[in-house]
Amino acid sequence: MDILRATSCMTAGLAHGVKSITPFASLDECVKMKSSGYLIAGERNGQRVDGFDLGNSPFDYMDASVKGKKVATTTTNGTLAIEKSKSAEQIIIGSFLNISAVADYLKQQENSLLIVCAGWKGKVNMEDSLFAGALTSLLNDEFSHETDAPLFSSSSYSAVKDNILEVIQNSSHARRLNRLNVHKDIEFCMRHDEYDVVPVLKGEELVVM
Ligand code: MLT
Repeated sequence: MDILRATSCMTAGLAHGVKSITPFASLDECVKMKSSGYLIAGERNGQRVDGFDLGNSPFDYMDASVKGKKVATTTTNGTLAIEKSKSAEQIIIGSFLNISAVADYLKQQENSLLIVCAGWKGKVNMEDSLFAGALTSLLNDEFSHETDAPLFSSSSYSAVKDNILEVIQNSSHARRLNRLNVHKDIEFCMRHDEYDVVPVLKGEELVVM
């Protein structure tokens, strides 16, 4: 998961009828998809890449022009986290926007679960850690934790859940986005349960399960 904003975009896009979203860690690989009829989307350091059809705002993915289309995307951390997770048996995309749907799906699984926080350039960030805590709290009856990270993140989430937007506004990436005049995405990405889609990686594409 990458709450601000890659996996929130993926959740919103697929919920709004985008056909598929193919994540790329590399900018060049993503650009090549344009010649195969894909829309290309993404950002570096929070800013839309020059010449790309879409940036990395969930609102870009809700536009009528994107419905039914295949999108290739590359982002600073989110798509890299997906790339690094590819040895997993299954990759599910989570965000606050679909947290209950994701939790309900995971509760039915027997495999062990690794909650991957994309973070920022190899460092911990607040919004991903709090999402990990929120998800862990929903899964407490079905999963036991192997390290203390889930325990730590769920305690943090419980402590701030009633004023989570205020807490997130002080996070490093929310401050970065605010400096770039990206304001409404932050509030939107922190909404819980806007959608009930569970995006899953099938081959190289994210689609609705
Ligand atoms: C990322 O992948 O690092 C993010 O989604 C950055 C962003 O907010 O666009």
